Amino acid sequence: MQSYETRRTTLDPSDMMGLVERFPDDCLRAWESAAAWSVPALPAKHLLLLGMGGSAIGADLLRAYLEPSATIPITVCRDYEVPAFVDADTVCIAISYSGNTEETLSAYADARRRGARGLAISTGGKLQARAAADGVPCFPLAPGLPPRASLPWSFFSLLRVVAGLGIWVEQDAAVRALHARLREAAARWGPAAADSPALALANSLQDSVPIVYGAGRGLPTVAYRWKCQINENPKMAAACAALPEANHNEQAGFSSPHPEADYARLAVVMLTDPAARVEVRNRARVTADYLRGRMPVYEVEAEGDTLLERMLLLILLGDFVSVYLAWVREIDPTPVEAIEWLKGRLAALRGE
Ligand code: PA5
Repeated sequence: MQSYETRRTTLDPSDMMGLVERFPDDCLRAWESAAAWSVPALPAKHLLLLGMGGSAIGADLLRAYLEPSATIPITVCRDYEVPAFVDADTVCIAISYSGNTEETLSAYADARRRGARGLAISTGGKLQARAAADGVPCFPLAPGLPPRASLPWSFFSLLRVVAGLGIWVEQDAAVRALHARLREAAARWGPAAADSPALALANSLQDSVPIVYGAGRGLPTVAYRWKCQINENPKMAAACAALPEANHNEQAGFSSPHPEADYARLAVVMLTDPAARVEVRNRARVTADYLRGRMPVYEVEAEGDTLLERMLLLILLGDFVSVYLAWVREIDPTPVEAIEWLKGRLAALRGE
């Protein structure tokens, strides 16, 4: 570890690791700063969250967290158009870190056309301008971050907003307990730790194509965050899957008679939850047994007393793993040139 820590400024010049280290404090800062927001009373029969990529993951996490308790449906839309059910009984929250993401802007316009009442969350850009023109409140995100590092801000901003909308009962003590647990975990997993299990997992995964499984409530969303962070920080191909669903299709894809050739670089990370239903825990165990022998399988059990703690602690662990993967592969975690290239080409096609 020491050699990485001493080379940190060259391996990670924009300090993505620092952003992961401050994830716990950013959660609390985001929660506290959003306390002052005045969220309009908008009765909703349906909550629609709009966003893409690093801005949408906070929405996914919110949906996964609220699903066991929310009494209205919550939908995350990552597209140009919103579903046909959207109407005046829908409250729509558009989230875009830059405020300039074309799918989110298009979906926001579509939702408004269909009569949805709305809110926006952004650092600025066109979304902020359109919201101002429409008389729609636009709440701020902390500026100067890569969108994927703004997850604490987007998630805790959304939590405050849904509390304001009456969809969730505010739990200040739970957020403060979570903050303490995240800090304690960051000390165990971060670069200052003598034996970080996150670094050990990164060392094991560095030459592989990881498939991250999520088994248990909220864990498919966490697995998706792991996959995206492994894509964006160390620039690695990765996939994710959800249990129980993967047992009904993906499983067959691992029954090749030529496993050495077909699965040469695959590795499975199985995210499990000790509080999951026994059926799901059995599926995780049996699936891992099946895959072992065909590819390496690493099991990671969620920590925490509540669903919120288990999801966010596992997300923090995955964020550490992804930046360690960048360090061990000697790839700068921050720039995402492929995404920028794509956005540039598409802007040129639009004549911008
Ligand atoms: O990680 C990223 O940079 C992307 O996934 C962006 O979040 C995505 O392209 C959407 O942009 P924005 O978050 O500015 O709406």
